Amino acid sequence: MAHLLHIDTSLRTDGSVSREVSGAYAQAWRAARPDGRYTYRDLAVEPLPHIDAAALATREADGDRPLERRLVEEVKSADTVLLGVPMYNYGVPSSLKAWLDWVLVPELFADQETGEGVLTGTRVVVVTARGGSYAPGTPRHSFDFQEPYLRAVFGVLGVAPEFVHAELTLAGVVPHLAQFKELAAASREDAHRLVRELAVT
Ligand SMILES: Cc1cc2nc3c(=O)[nH]c(=O)nc-3n(C[C@H](O)[C@H](O)[C@H](O)COP(=O)(O)O)c2cc1C
Repeated sequence: MAHLLHIDTSLRTDGSVSREVSGAYAQAWRAARPDGRYTYRDLAVEPLPHIDAAALATREADGDRPLERRLVEEVKSADTVLLGVPMYNYGVPSSLKAWLDWVLVPELFADQETGEGVLTGTRVVVVTARGGSYAPGTPRHSFDFQEPYLRAVFGVLGVAPEFVHAELTLAGVVPHLAQFKELAAASREDAHRLVRELAVT
């Protein structure tokens, strides 16, 4: 059975663009697969604990790690993982980093020679929202530590994520970005169009 694991991470529960666009993907995905399974995790409302010394020691001793097991099983059982990811200080929210620290376990790593792993075939769709623009050719392109980071970590698992960016979300808020309001609206519309397309393919 098709299974969508949808994870949101924006601290804002009202007015969040990443929640709005990831929600549009989930809605279209579910409409196209009425019998599909849907799991939702909100890492901002219900953050995971950071991995700590005790958890690490248990992992090293190969002891029982119920939280890690539950999170890893959730990822393994999904055929699509959808992440809503705001840009915070040029990177991903710390709540998402905490989740990654739990789920990036050797059991999921792809074989370095073949590139195959237990997540081969899993689709990962990342919806980002950024206050500014980090598109190729913009002055802040090299400040984008979201897309390259997530490409690297999912690459280790043998998965190439697909990205949808809603940019310039602060154009209506920050005076020096006001000139980009039209671009911001176009970026948000494009993001909605793209997720509607991706959700049904
Ligand atoms: C703590 C914090 C850090 C932020 N850092 C950046 C940043 O480095 N670059 C940027 O373009 N926008 C930054 N922003 C703006 C957010 O990326 C923007 O508001 C985005 O729309 C947030 O996602 P959301 O709409 O889903 O909440 C930051 C916002 C917060 C709250």
